[in-house]
Amino acid sequence: MILVTGGAGYIGSHTCVELARAGYEFVVLDNFSNSTPVVLERIERITGQPVRWHEGDIRDRATLDRIFAQYPISAVLHFAGLKAVTESIDRPIDYFDNNVHGSIALVGAMERAGCKTLVFSSSATVYGPEQPMPVAESAPLTVSNPYGRTKLVVEDLLYELSRSDPQWRIATLRYFNPVGAHDSGLIGESPVGTPSNLMPLVCQVAAGLRPAVQIFGDDYPSPDGTGIRDFVHVMDLADGHVAALAFLERNQTHIVVNLGTGRGASVMDVIKAFERLSGRRIPYEIVSRRTADIGISFADVSLANELLGWVAKRDLDDMCRDAWRWQSANGQ
Ligand code: UD1
Repeated sequence: MILVTGGAGYIGSHTCVELARAGYEFVVLDNFSNSTPVVLERIERITGQPVRWHEGDIRDRATLDRIFAQYPISAVLHFAGLKAVTESIDRPIDYFDNNVHGSIALVGAMERAGCKTLVFSSSATVYGPEQPMPVAESAPLTVSNPYGRTKLVVEDLLYELSRSDPQWRIATLRYFNPVGAHDSGLIGESPVGTPSNLMPLVCQVAAGLRPAVQIFGDDYPSPDGTGIRDFVHVMDLADGHVAALAFLERNQTHIVVNLGTGRGASVMDVIKAFERLSGRRIPYEIVSRRTADIGISFADVSLANELLGWVAKRDLDDMCRDAWRWQSANGQ
């Protein structure tokens, strides 16, 4: 039995679908601070299987101990956390409490229960600016906001944990830019309030819910001047988690692995592809660069390929098509 913290969230929910498809049994723990139980019903519709779930917070020791006592949990996929950069600057205490304290509580409960296999959601944000691209896992790490720092602190904790007790099996996965949705249109990304990431904004502009996309700068050293990111389809990311889990079943070790496509697409590429796939016009305006933004970011994915046998299979067209299907079906 796999415990999925944050399993009703964006990446967690898509990974639950892939876990079911790969034949794993799982139980979701989510406090629904940024999601709803409806997502779990949608996973049931997609997989045709009931989903076990508990509402609760990873910071609550009693909740965790109860779950570990109730189920024979062999591994944890740990998605639960807060993830908005700007919000983290306004609310650093909440970010450290949820992301750092939450992760400490989780690994503590795992240790008490004798469950020492963990897949952790980290982020390419730990690489900071000014890295030569593509960026490999061995690159120096720096962070410029509280959200990024919480990821780095938990990475450090997991590193020390596996050094102190080699029984731990840990995969720290550094996501690049997850976008898209399950191709059923039943689950996808549901940002609360104004989205801060590019793809949900493009979706809402295409749907006529917002007037235009603001492009943050067209003077980056890219062919069209707009920023470049390694957008990766959330279902590929989900596959990557299943591959990481399978790897840890075979290997008692700690790995840190990038999950991306290894290819960059510019903000303008995304807008143009989305226009083509949705048949909608996406008005945009060029504004100044976003504070502390990185110009170009894309992954060296050779380690994921080598260790996990994983490569992203879906391209930018798939990402836009699936994001638009989800947006159209949900109309928000
Ligand atoms: C951002 C965070 C990153 C976090 C990730 C979570 C920053 C600097 N980075 O990544 O730490 O892990 O979200 O998903 O906040 N863009 C526009 N207009 C918009 C929104 C974005 O032009 O309205 C551009 C950005 O300048 C960037 C690209 O689109 O070039 C992608 O931006 P975004 O989706 O916010 O992701 P990141 O900045 O890569």
